[in-house]
Amino acid sequence: MEKPRQSRRQFIVALVTLLAAAGGIWRFLVPRKAKREMLLRVPKAELPSHGALVYRESRIALVREEGNIIALSLVCPHLGCTVAVTPTGMVCPCHGSRFNQRGELLSGPATEPLAALAVASDGEYLVVTGRSRGGNA
Ligand code: FES
Repeated sequence: MEKPRQSRRQFIVALVTLLAAAGGIWRFLVPRKAKREMLLRVPKAELPSHGALVYRESRIALVREEGNIIALSLVCPHLGCTVAVTPTGMVCPCHGSRFNQRGELLSGPATEPLAALAVASDGEYLVVTGRSRGGNA
């Protein structure tokens, strides 16, 4: 009577091993959707018809320009200071890097533009999530 018990145990071990391997293969073959963390949710009505809205705690600026809404990270790409938004553009107070309203680099020492964030429309709200190339709502 030992044989059937051992055979059942071997079957269960083989089955568990097979399922674990199948799960591993499945995870390898099927790419996961990257979850984007919501960074900011803003009523659309708060955004002015022209200019920028700055969320200092989140270090994000929402800029309306030429009908587009752009979300920019205000984290300076040089060393991480918070970039200040002025009527004429954006300036880093630490070492003086300057950016235009679209976050494009005008002068260093930073060597990269401000990071564009994804912004999407969700009913009466704008939702800003992680990095994006486009970033228009
Ligand atoms: S941290 Fe912004 S210019 Fe250096």
